[in-house]
Amino acid sequence: MKKKPWPEVGEGIDYTLLQDEWIPAPWINLGDWSETEDYRYACQQLALRLGQFIGIKARDCLLELACGYGAGLWLWQEAFGNQKCDALEFRKECVDYLEANPPGNLDNLIASKAEAFFAEHQPPSPSVEACYDAILCVDAAYHFSSIQDFLGASLRMLKPGGRLGFHLFCLNSEKPLSPWIKKLFQQADIDSKEFRTEEDLIQEMRQQGWQKVKVQDFTKPVFGGFASFIGRRSKQLRLGLRWKPAWFKILTTAWLCGKVLKEESLKFMMVRAERNA
Ligand SMILES: C[S@@+](CC[C@H](N)C(=O)[O-])C[C@H]1O[C@@H](n2cnc3c(N)ncnc32)[C@H](O)[C@@H]1O
Repeated sequence: MKKKPWPEVGEGIDYTLLQDEWIPAPWINLGDWSETEDYRYACQQLALRLGQFIGIKARDCLLELACGYGAGLWLWQEAFGNQKCDALEFRKECVDYLEANPPGNLDNLIASKAEAFFAEHQPPSPSVEACYDAILCVDAAYHFSSIQDFLGASLRMLKPGGRLGFHLFCLNSEKPLSPWIKKLFQQADIDSKEFRTEEDLIQEMRQQGWQKVKVQDFTKPVFGGFASFIGRRSKQLRLGLRWKPAWFKILTTAWLCGKVLKEESLKFMMVRAERNA
């Protein structure tokens, strides 16, 4: 078993340290801080921009991958009138929360690791079905062990003309990631071997058959914004909370955001593409 610097924290982020209210559901993403200093609003903005980027429609049959506690599902319903969404998440506390507080548009909750789900959607599996109008993944695709499998399975699950939207960390071809930063990502269960430049990503997606691939750079408002927020939040939290190992994990994430921003080694990209109509 891999040794972690924060063994007693478990998987994921302690959302109670980031926000004081979490109704209808907690957010757990890095946020888009271009218009706000409020954590929940920043998280919502990051998701909203992705929803707008792929153009969610009220009648879309959606799939949200790595949905966390389901705050995105509430947003798709509220901002786009969406009525039908399947959601995948593997962390038990998130699945339990969603089962106890299901958004009205939640159809099918898939309690599974994304990798196992993608494996079920590889040919010649009979469960390959083009049933979704759009697939979203808010600030999470970099956790998946293979971006190729994620893209391949998404292509097969989308109806002709269906849209995909996600965020991804992309490399800067001129500024390599230092080995110890790679090590820190590994500790957070993120495989930096999967990182590629945006040019390589676009090329790979086109080769796989994706159409209309577009990317937008959110590096500064996401990495810079989260790092500054954690600085402010440190001053708000009681001393006892700041001694929690879970806070140390958040501090490390914020430090990493500030570091890759400063050395310009990693970008935070929003990506959209379509399946052939
Ligand atoms: C940064 S959080 C984003 C959660 C949610 N999208 C949001 O915006 O609040 C990343 C999410 O990815 C999930 N995740 C990480 N690895 C995963 C995997 N292999 N399969 C499915 N979900 C995964 C985590 O449990 C977590 O909920």
